[in-house]
Amino acid sequence: MANNLLKGKRGIIFGALNDMSIAWKVAERAHEEGAEFVLTNAPIAMRMGAINDLAEKTGSIVIPADATSVEDLEKLIQEAMDHLGGKIDFILHSIGMSPNVRKKKHYTDINYNYYNQTLDVSAGSLHKILATAQKMDALNEWGSVVALTYIAAQRIFPDYNDMADAKSLLESITRSFGYHYGIKKKVRVNTISQSPTVTTAGQGIKGFDEFINFSEQMSPLGNASAVACADYCISMFSDLTRYVTMQNLFHDGGFSNTGVTQQVIERFGSED
Ligand code: NAI
Repeated sequence: MANNLLKGKRGIIFGALNDMSIAWKVAERAHEEGAEFVLTNAPIAMRMGAINDLAEKTGSIVIPADATSVEDLEKLIQEAMDHLGGKIDFILHSIGMSPNVRKKKHYTDINYNYYNQTLDVSAGSLHKILATAQKMDALNEWGSVVALTYIAAQRIFPDYNDMADAKSLLESITRSFGYHYGIKKKVRVNTISQSPTVTTAGQGIKGFDEFINFSEQMSPLGNASAVACADYCISMFSDLTRYVTMQNLFHDGGFSNTGVTQQVIERFGSED
């Protein structure tokens, strides 16, 4: 289903760890749609090596960068522009990590050093990417930046822990920076709020398997897959969505507007 939607566009894709990663699917779809891009991930994620296979498959290169380091980001953005031969048209922020979730700390008893890391890696990194890009004047007019988020930013999902706070911050940065970058350079910034998806980050959440089934039954269209999310990202990077900015866009099969479904309510019926 390739339509050359991104022909002539240059991008930077953060967060492809393995072939389950949403960023991986976005890179595959962006390649199919004619984009040229650079892949990046934290230096530690390079050890797995899988990202090199993706680079080969999509004719891209990999530039390691810790998204919390402004120095790394400056280097990444400069090298990306040098390699791609001009300014950037789209950026995917597909980054999330909580040491509190990893170490199974309860939300009411989190470690605050970990908390700062959660917020910095999962949300502050978007601010740093946008601020660095703006200072370097690295994005073309009508460029599009998309970050991935989850509905726990608006509603309580107890096991999502401090990632919920990080996602609220991510969505706030999207609005605030979207305003300033829009006025200054017509760059647009949006979040896509994705259904629970089986990936390395997703599976780190306690009770994830049960939760994904619950979400499936609470969504009139069912959970959106990683590939479908990639399609939505492509549309947001394309010129077909030029006036969409500062939004949190739900890509969740209708979950966010559903109070209850017949399937779920029937589980609570009396036996007789
Ligand atoms: P993933 O584990 O494949 O991707 C997370 C990525 O963040 C990894 O590639 C990891 O190396 C990268 N990362 C961590 N620390 C970093 C740092 N300091 N610098 C640069 N990169 C760093 O998992 P997934 O699910 O593809 O996650 C992508 C995004 O989608 C995340 O923001 C996640 O919160 C979001 N999301 C995921 C959902 C799910 O159920 N899997 C649902 C809704 C949103």
